[in-house]
Amino acid sequence: MSIENSGAAPALEPVPLGSSCPLAHTPPESAPPSRRGFLGLITGLVGAAIAALISIPAVGFILTPILRKQKAQGDFVPLTRLSELEPGIPRVFPVVQSRKDGWVSYPPEPVGSVWLVREPEGKEKPVLAFTAECPHLACAIALSDDRRGFFCPCHVSSFKLDGTRLAGASPRNMDPLEVESFSASDPDPMVRVRFQRFRTNTEERVPLA
Ligand code: FES
Repeated sequence: MSIENSGAAPALEPVPLGSSCPLAHTPPESAPPSRRGFLGLITGLVGAAIAALISIPAVGFILTPILRKQKAQGDFVPLTRLSELEPGIPRVFPVVQSRKDGWVSYPPEPVGSVWLVREPEGKEKPVLAFTAECPHLACAIALSDDRRGFFCPCHVSSFKLDGTRLAGASPRNMDPLEVESFSASDPDPMVRVRFQRFRTNTEERVPLA
């Protein structure tokens, strides 16, 4: 008896081992990004740009007091007119500064004293300036009795008028300060000094913050 095979599925060819199945669905390797994915990417970029724009003022708000504080440390302080100084006769001046610590402002207060020595005509520097804090343990340096030098009463250190150490416990010369250059067109310029304090009792001169 013969059996009719009409209507049955055709027999499949055997698939060799190691080859992929022709019926399996495999996506194309480099499919183009979908429209939804592209819109998501654009949305993300726009969001990042807006966040950056918003954060710029905030960063400025945080950094401004710090930058202002750094600038204030380097400011020149006006002390006197040049005509108020006689050559070779030292004078001491208090330094009064207002202070800003982060976001907190403090009213002007004395922060130290400065000795000024006007040099004779023709010297390289018209005015020498020194902090009045002794380099030993920060006692106040005074003018010597003969007015030809400086002296610290705490541990009997003495210095020449140019700040050179002569004797005593001080480990170094007096600490010089920077004097702002005078304008050649000003007949009586203001003497401005960049005030600075230094670490005490060290041979090396180390500025304090
Ligand atoms: S503090 Fe000036 S000699 Fe000691």
